[in-house]
Amino acid sequence: MGNLTESNVITGVPGSERFVQDFEKGVLQSTLKISVSQLNFYYGPRQVLFDVSLNIADRKITALIGPSGCGKSTFLRTLNRLHETIHGTRMEGEVLLDGQNILELDVVRVRRRVGMVFQKSNPFPKSIFENVAYGLKINKMGGRGLIQEIVEKSLHRAALWEEVKDHIHKSAYSLSGGQQQRLCIARALAVDPEVLLLDEPCSALDPIATAKIEDLLMDLASTCTIVIVTHNMQQAARVADHTGFFLLGKLIEFNKTDIIFKNPARKETEDYITGRFG
Ligand SMILES: Nc1ncnc2c1ncn2[C@@H]1O[C@H](COP(=O)(O)OP(=O)(O)O)[C@@H](O)[C@H]1O
Ligand SMILES: [Mg+2]
Repeated sequence: MGNLTESNVITGVPGSERFVQDFEKGVLQSTLKISVSQLNFYYGPRQVLFDVSLNIADRKITALIGPSGCGKSTFLRTLNRLHETIHGTRMEGEVLLDGQNILELDVVRVRRRVGMVFQKSNPFPKSIFENVAYGLKINKMGGRGLIQEIVEKSLHRAALWEEVKDHIHKSAYSLSGGQQQRLCIARALAVDPEVLLLDEPCSALDPIATAKIEDLLMDLASTCTIVIVTHNMQQAARVADHTGFFLLGKLIEFNKTDIIFKNPARKETEDYITGRFG
């Protein structure tokens, strides 16, 4: 992890002197997992992200908050090149994963290293087992015994194993909404990603299912870097180490979560988190 402390990594408002200094030193790679610099993003002629620079710390939880339409999902997709699947998009700037430009890496490998879980749980019309085994099979990872083992381990990591172990060959659709979302997390974990991106994973879930996912994310953070988009500010406050606030395609403020919620530097952030934004 190098000798850098967390305060070196997250240094307040982008553009502020300290942020720029630390960012430009470029020495943070040992504690940073992803480093985004000067990202601009366009759908056709329309620009929706403006000069976003953001550091994501290794094995921490980073939350991205902001009103609907401000570019959170778009930003998340650039972190594993998923935007390339959307016709007519263009990205400028740089996304480094462990210091390497992700555009210079094999895209399949990038998406294996940086997994994604979506807002609406989307299990395949297959059994619980086959859902989790899917990524292993298409990536030709492991024989039958190993797949069995990894499926079980992934369901454990996704805090679902105890609930499904006796009917693992039943349809994924037999599970509740919260269980289906944990199944999607298990499916993403099966290929052992280094980073997990989650786009509003709890927005369709009740408070109990939400609490389970939050506990799970906090456990996972010891082994995996997590970036979560959420419209639920209490959720960000509960789970995230660092929080970024987006507004109209710009990263307005990025800092340790308690600073964002208790002592934000920018008026826009304060207005948003106190519900005055309108
Ligand atoms: N596939 C797309 N094609 C064109 N415009 C899009 C597409 N996806 C999102 N946008 C636009 O980009 C902006 C940011 O959207 P998005 O990243 O989904 O924001 P958020 O996740 O914060 O709600 C919005 O104005 C939205 O309409
Ligand atoms: Mg979104």
